[in-house]
Amino acid sequence: MELKAPHYHFYEPSLGHGLPHDPFNAIVGPRPIGWISTRDANGVANLAPYSFFNAFNYTPPIVGFSSIGSKDSLLNIRETGLFGWNLTTRSLAHQMNTSSASTPKEIDEFKLAGLSSLSGRVVDVPLVEKSPVRFECRCTQIIQLKKIDGDAVQTWLVLGEVVGVHIDKTLLRDGVYDTAAAHPVLRGGGMADYFEISSDAHFQMHRPRYPGSA
Ligand SMILES: Cc1cc2nc3c(=O)[nH]c(=O)nc-3n(C[C@H](O)[C@H](O)[C@H](O)COP(=O)(O)O)c2cc1C
Repeated sequence: MELKAPHYHFYEPSLGHGLPHDPFNAIVGPRPIGWISTRDANGVANLAPYSFFNAFNYTPPIVGFSSIGSKDSLLNIRETGLFGWNLTTRSLAHQMNTSSASTPKEIDEFKLAGLSSLSGRVVDVPLVEKSPVRFECRCTQIIQLKKIDGDAVQTWLVLGEVVGVHIDKTLLRDGVYDTAAAHPVLRGGGMADYFEISSDAHFQMHRPRYPGSA
């Protein structure tokens, strides 16, 4: 049976979306921002946001981001095997945006955005001093994405194990991390849409227990 639902806009991405703006990243959103900090082999620091970013494992913690094209962060990680992740908060949103400017590799976006950096405790990565949560990561895999027909896409998924976590203690309530207290900023769709998380967006739902299961 052919599914026809006139009140749905249907499209096959390979044939075009037929809309004024590709809705894909507004649908899969808002996405946490991977504000990725690296150094090249000569020690020049680099900072850039990546919203094709997420966590992929709990123990050990593994995070990853997608470099659409071979960008400086990817090149630096290939050179050093290291990267940092920095939480983007509402008060750091403009600096995060400034750090997304396409600049020559020798430009340090920390300086461009007026941010000071500090060095990791476990590995030698630059981190955003003002960010209240920071990860130090060692790259575990770099995977070039493929299409259904096996053709390579010019996009690389960079995965890394988190080997150091820095949390501003004001975000810990009786030792429990308070997500909303940091006012994280997430990327929506469109050209310029973002969302700020605050406590009024919070609700709880416990996982069901199937009788007899652990
Ligand atoms: C909020 C935001 C999210 C972004 N997400 C991505 C992404 O997921 N992948 C990507 O390749 N570029 C993304 N970009 C663009 C990069 O930040 C931009 O190309 C940057 O110059 C890359 O810096 P680099 O070459 O120093 O790594 C994003 C930009 C912004 C502002």
